[in-house]
Amino acid sequence: MPDIEGINKAKQFFTDVPQTSKSYFLKGSNALDWGMKNRLGRIFNPVSGRTVMLAIDHGYFQGPTTGLERIDVNILPLEPYADTLMLTRGILRSIIPPETQKSVVLRVSGGTSILKELSNETLAVDIEDAVRLNASAMAVQVFIGGEHEKESITNMTKMVDMGTRYGIPTLAVTAVGKDMVRDAKYFRLATRICAELGAHYIKTYYVPEDFETVTASCPVPIVIAGGKKIPELDALKMAYRSVQEGAAGVDMGRNIFQTASPIAMIQAVRAVVHENEIPEKAFDLYNTLKNKKS
Ligand code: R5P
Repeated sequence: MPDIEGINKAKQFFTDVPQTSKSYFLKGSNALDWGMKNRLGRIFNPVSGRTVMLAIDHGYFQGPTTGLERIDVNILPLEPYADTLMLTRGILRSIIPPETQKSVVLRVSGGTSILKELSNETLAVDIEDAVRLNASAMAVQVFIGGEHEKESITNMTKMVDMGTRYGIPTLAVTAVGKDMVRDAKYFRLATRICAELGAHYIKTYYVPEDFETVTASCPVPIVIAGGKKIPELDALKMAYRSVQEGAAGVDMGRNIFQTASPIAMIQAVRAVVHENEIPEKAFDLYNTLKNKKS
């Protein structure tokens, strides 16, 4: 429709201002499509370039894990402090209020329990359900060196293909078997294989020696899992070192929800990840918040 004659405001074309074209803030992600970038930008904070993912998906293979017995009671109060919730569709639908403004990383592999061989996973969620649930990414366990290595890699590549069709990124979760060595050499191998085969970002474990070689040789962002519960200061040191050595954040579970004050711990982890707070100061913050609450 033509402009109405006599409109008061003159058009502004800013002919002397070139349109800018910024590169995307996440490592290795600039060539992705808009939907992928938008979803990743809901997981990673574009200001810090990092994320605090709250991992609460443990029940998918080990049932009601300590601290996760009642997600409605124990975990919902932590939701405001997480950037992303990493969980199963069962918990998402049954417990998480759909009004949440937090992004969701949906666990999509499964099919085994702690009673059997864990690497024997399959894809346990259809891509259509991930779309329906508005997932910002889909998480697939990859067992490099495990008994079912090939099947787990194939699970991941299938999800990468399907996710690419719909603009949903895939998070490859590098799982370590009981008898496998957790060192930088192993994680360089595992993370690089996942990235080469299309994972958009990768979860791995922190190792005290040469972790920076793991992040350097992986062309997409890495987040670290927390692992078994350790003393709070040690967990904060691990988070600090991992981000200082190139990780783009944490996907932490037990070292948050198994502490004496999960709500204090997640805020201390945030300070380390998003504000580069040193572990000792973050630990002070943890104690202050913990005591305030009690
Ligand atoms: C384990 O398989 C789950 O995927 C967890 O999300 C992952 O291990 C991170 O949780 P945590 O920090 O407790 O190790």
